[in-house]
Amino acid sequence: MSEGKRLAGEKAVDYVEDGMIVGVGTGSTVAFFIEALARVKDRIAGTVSSSEQSTAALRAHGIEVFDLNSTGALSLYVDGADECDGGKNLIKGGGGALTREKIIAEASAKFVCIIDPSKNVPVLGKFPLPVEVIPMAQSLVERRLIELGGKPVLRAGFTTDNGNPILDVHGLQITDPVGLEETINQIPGVVTVGLFARRRADIVIEGVDPPRIW
Ligand code: A5P
Repeated sequence: MSEGKRLAGEKAVDYVEDGMIVGVGTGSTVAFFIEALARVKDRIAGTVSSSEQSTAALRAHGIEVFDLNSTGALSLYVDGADECDGGKNLIKGGGGALTREKIIAEASAKFVCIIDPSKNVPVLGKFPLPVEVIPMAQSLVERRLIELGGKPVLRAGFTTDNGNPILDVHGLQITDPVGLEETINQIPGVVTVGLFARRRADIVIEGVDPPRIW
């Protein structure tokens, strides 16, 4: 599996162009992308990072990290996923960075998603869907998610970089990703749902040898 992550992460550097500010996601697949990006760091202007974890890794390589408010729109965002369907709709947030990831994806012209083959699924939902919530809304959001057919479970001992809890929603078969994303977005107290369908990936790099790009 980690070989698949390496193959996908390293291939994504092909999309990096001279002078770019690159949006950088979070996770173990992105860690391989960061390693590869470090080898071409003199060609880029810097990065915008989706988590404290990625920021630390980027800075350790001497790569500059900018605030998104200072950069404007980005040309490229590279990030992993927990699941990806044939329509390039994604479940993300297994690492808890979904809110910042969704912000950077929205701000980017091109979203390249890097996955190992185990993430490629016919229907999203076997991986529990992460939902970041405002603390006082937790039980309300849980009730609404149960009405939608899910089984929300509080992620124990975890708060996001934004200081919020995450509910991991089990038991969903997500056949209408855009519709479910919009429905969950409407629940008061939801900060971010880890469904990336309204703004899904543009390009998927699947880590086989040679990498499969679709
Ligand atoms: C982080 O919150 C997630 O969205 C990650 O992008 C996702 O969990 C993929 O992680 P791995 O690359 O570690 O599998």
